[in-house]
Amino acid sequence: MKVNHVELTISAASKTQYPATGYPEITFVGRSNVGKSSLINRLIDRKAMARTSSVPGKTQTLNFYDIESQLYFVDVPGYGYAKVSKAARAKFAAMIEEYLTTRKPLRGAVLLVDARHVPSEDDVSMYQYLKYFNQPVLVVGTKVDKTSRARRAQTIHQIEATLDLNQTDQLVLFSAETGEGKDAVWAWLEHTAGLPAGD
Ligand code: GTP
Ligand code: MG
Repeated sequence: MKVNHVELTISAASKTQYPATGYPEITFVGRSNVGKSSLINRLIDRKAMARTSSVPGKTQTLNFYDIESQLYFVDVPGYGYAKVSKAARAKFAAMIEEYLTTRKPLRGAVLLVDARHVPSEDDVSMYQYLKYFNQPVLVVGTKVDKTSRARRAQTIHQIEATLDLNQTDQLVLFSAETGEGKDAVWAWLEHTAGLPAGD
């Protein structure tokens, strides 16, 4: 999709604040600092629409980005960051659970994992959780610019095997630095959100 118009519609902390427009939604989940906000910025060709930070735990609400008045990207707080207080973690988990369990326009989830490492236990749990709610999942292996090309096949195998990836789900290696993988992510998003391809 060629994106000309993007707008942060709302940073929501609870259900009553979710937009009522009815566009299909795709959510972006993954551990803190994995690159969720950077992926969103790359997809929409903006440098800093979604706030990124080298300090984990930057995103603290459900952020609904209106993309071309056709769909929402929903950026959620990352998990697995020890320095976020226990109370804050519980609050984020409840926020994400409320969203996943009740949100009708939700069409699928992009689960980000760091391509440099074997997926963590938290990543595996999140994948199982998304499958429990019957969400189509695109796994995105981020920061692939920091891994060697020679290890690509091994990286792919490691992620697929550790998550026990369903045949119906897909894996794309991605870099917010180089843009590698962007077109493949868009193809999945358009298909999953039920939008016309490549317009
Ligand atoms: P939270 O909002 O804290 O959950 O983090 P996030 O998942 O949104 O991560 P964010 O996009 O803020 O990125 C975290 C850090 O990783 C930043 O310093 C980014 O510049 C860096 N980063 C993200 N994606 C990539 C990538 O593809 N390659 C490289 N080299 N660095 C990346
Ligand atoms: Mg973020």
